[in-house]
Amino acid sequence: MLEMEQETQKSKTQNFYDQIADVHGLLMKINRYRKSVAEFLTSFELNLDENSLVLDAGSGTGIVTQGFYDAGFPFKKIVALDLSSNLLKISREEFEKDEKISSEKIALAQGNVLQLPFADATFDLLVTCGVLEYVPLDAGLREMARVMKTGARLVLIPVKPSLVGTVLEILYKFKTHPLEDVRRVAGQYFNIVGDYTFPITEPIGWSKIIFVLERK
Ligand SMILES: C[S@@+](CC[C@H](N)C(=O)[O-])C[C@H]1O[C@@H](n2cnc3c(N)ncnc32)[C@H](O)[C@@H]1O
Repeated sequence: MLEMEQETQKSKTQNFYDQIADVHGLLMKINRYRKSVAEFLTSFELNLDENSLVLDAGSGTGIVTQGFYDAGFPFKKIVALDLSSNLLKISREEFEKDEKISSEKIALAQGNVLQLPFADATFDLLVTCGVLEYVPLDAGLREMARVMKTGARLVLIPVKPSLVGTVLEILYKFKTHPLEDVRRVAGQYFNIVGDYTFPITEPIGWSKIIFVLERK
């Protein structure tokens, strides 16, 4: 029963994002999320090297992947994974146009964050922004933890309860998780390194908060 509900939700979300992909792509270009994510990541120690594998789970138009590139960390490959094939198409086009991004260091995958198509303990870093709002928190965090190596960092950028968050909830058809639930559930799989805010001058800060977590 639970699996059927999750499958229905998955199809609804996939269809929704396939339909709004172009408009969403345009909005993501003008809101400076890429720069905000890059600046935050740059300020952080993520313990990466030339062999590191990175996953952007629920990559959308690829903005967070591009922000990760801009931050300049060493790594071997980043996988941008999303449910929506139309968003993946947009992100592929964006990556191809982007001179910073080398095609051999990037892979795109269509998939569900509740059933990630990767072996246990694959990734050295996982980033996810505005995605867990579409799935049960425990199932999502458990599956992300599964594919991460012990000690790997999860940069989790959820929607925070806020006026802008409420408007986005309606427009984008998701449900914000209370932050105390995020802390409690995350604590089962991760050590909480800290939670951080984006500067209020940056649009991403109006609706998002950042948790940096370390896989137990
Ligand atoms: C609000 S957008 C955020 C996209 C991107 N992370 C960003 O910050 O620009 C939510 C994204 O989550 C994806 N998504 C929602 N549920 C998902 C699931 N179960 N598995 C994979 N992706 C999912 C949607 O297709 C959409 O691209």
